[in-house]
Amino acid sequence: MKVIIASDYDDLVQKAFEIVKGTVTSNPHAVLGLATGQTPIALYRLMVEDHKRCGTSYKKVRTFNLDEYKGLSADNPQSYAYYMRKNLFDRIDIDPNNTYIENGAAEDADSECKRYNIVLSEFARDIQLLGLGSNGHIAFNEPHSPFDGETHVVKLAESTLQDNSYLFGDVRRVPTHAYTMGIKQIMAAKRILILASGQHKADAVRELICGNVTESFPASVLQLHTDCTLIIDEAAGSKILTLPPHEISAI
Ligand code: GLP
Repeated sequence: MKVIIASDYDDLVQKAFEIVKGTVTSNPHAVLGLATGQTPIALYRLMVEDHKRCGTSYKKVRTFNLDEYKGLSADNPQSYAYYMRKNLFDRIDIDPNNTYIENGAAEDADSECKRYNIVLSEFARDIQLLGLGSNGHIAFNEPHSPFDGETHVVKLAESTLQDNSYLFGDVRRVPTHAYTMGIKQIMAAKRILILASGQHKADAVRELICGNVTESFPASVLQLHTDCTLIIDEAAGSKILTLPPHEISAI
């Protein structure tokens, strides 16, 4: 795993932006795996600004999102589909038909998972963007999710409900279940770019880099990917910056 330490959040998203822009400009047909949450918001802002100022085009780009709350339709302002349109898709020239995400309002969850597995299998992702859950989740693959899993419905961990409750005002309003891309599918991306910012991610970052590869900390699987870049800011890296190099097993 390659680790890049940025000075702060702005520097982190700038570095991530350069990698994503490089992927799109070197291949106009690039397939991007995208993430939601707080961390990539300013990255998407940079992509929008760059599109407007420099004309970087997404006309032929395809995107696949990681996850969606079960029960929320795409027009619900708290859905990840809505988040993606608001923060990125409505502000660049991407064809909405080329943006894929699980349908949170699907009638039949099994069929929805199968549908997403099929579209995912049709397009190899050039890069997969990831955030890091404070409990080590990637997408909504909570601790003890199988490393060979595909798209499935997951019951969200209590800590995840708490972490994401800021979006819903009250933890009791956070949907208890979600669709998520499986770890096997995340690992199938040619390149992975994982971002973590802030002191509250410092323990998870340390575990990601120094811990054992185990399903009890799903992000640890990334140690096995052949082209994974982790970008952290100094706050998120505060528990690894003092470690002797031999303890940083994954670097
Ligand atoms: C959320 C989402 C993930 C996201 C991660 C980190 O629960 N399901 O897709 O990457 O947790 O979120 P944040 O960037 O807000 O810390």
